[in-house]
Amino acid sequence: MSDISHIAVIGAGTMGSGIALTSVLAGKQCTLIDVQDAQLSSAHVYHEKQLHKLVAKEKLTSEEAAQAQSLLTYTTGMSDASLADWAIEAATENVDVKKKLFQLMRETFRENVVLATNTSSISITDLATAVEGAEHRVIGMHFFNPVPVMKLVEVIKGNNTSEATTNATVELSEALGKIPVPANDFAGFVSNRVLMPMINEAFHAWEDGVADPEAIDSIMKLGCAFPMGPLRLADYIGLDVCRDIMMVMYNGLDENPKYLPNQKLVELVEAGKLGDKSGAGVYDYTKE
Ligand code: CAA
Repeated sequence: MSDISHIAVIGAGTMGSGIALTSVLAGKQCTLIDVQDAQLSSAHVYHEKQLHKLVAKEKLTSEEAAQAQSLLTYTTGMSDASLADWAIEAATENVDVKKKLFQLMRETFRENVVLATNTSSISITDLATAVEGAEHRVIGMHFFNPVPVMKLVEVIKGNNTSEATTNATVELSEALGKIPVPANDFAGFVSNRVLMPMINEAFHAWEDGVADPEAIDSIMKLGCAFPMGPLRLADYIGLDVCRDIMMVMYNGLDENPKYLPNQKLVELVEAGKLGDKSGAGVYDYTKE
């Protein structure tokens, strides 16, 4: 049983909000940090809605939901969480942004605190160079969306991650009700190395006229038992995120052209069609 009681989550987007909700549902105190107030407000709305749903489904009593909400703090100042005993960075998938955050995390949190990242593709060893002398405390703790539902945490050690950090990460993942599975520090790890080329190939199939998006998704759902078809899933993940992960793999895996993002995917991103979060992507969600 993990003795971690206060988790700081940096980044209040989809993943950060989900990690925060999962943490408080497991009885941990959680401080959710973001530079944007609007992002924190959306996270708060998401938490209230999900807790309300759990009460309506009789999975939680209203007292338990209120208790979970009371464990959450929202702030724009990382220093408000300086007493946290674990930190999980879940900011935008950009190596420079993450490195700056890791420097700040190192300055903010106490000396023994693990500095985990929810990166979905960026090298842990590279990120750890931002915190010279504290590399042993840096680890990949990759959650999946929607975090409260998906069981996996992909655990990725960097070259200098200590055994103690790895063991504590496994323990905390289990305490959060997740199943930790190790992967090595290659761009995209296992999950996105396998998932993203499949999603990218679905875009190629659409571009080539093999079938329209609805048919591609139906075929993969009905024929391969996927809960969502690959194009619907791409919208759900965010088309910008899919493109960025493909580029991290392209750059990190010898510029192998098989990892170049499909042109149609790139064009949708450039048109601001990012999927669910922008109201349109492969599909239009404005009518829902
Ligand atoms: N937050 C919390 N709970 C949520 C949720 C959310 N955002 N979305 C759905 N749920 C819960 C629902 O409340 C419901 O709970 P109960 O079973 O207790 O009633 C349950 O999930 C099922 O939801 P729905 O009935 O609304 O819908 P569904 O059966 O179609 O399932 C889904 C929705 C779980 C998202 C399912 O479609 C699914 O598993 N899709 C695939 C998701 C996936 O592949 N995720 C990984 C993406 S890759 C990634 O995240 C990593 C990366 O690096 C890119």
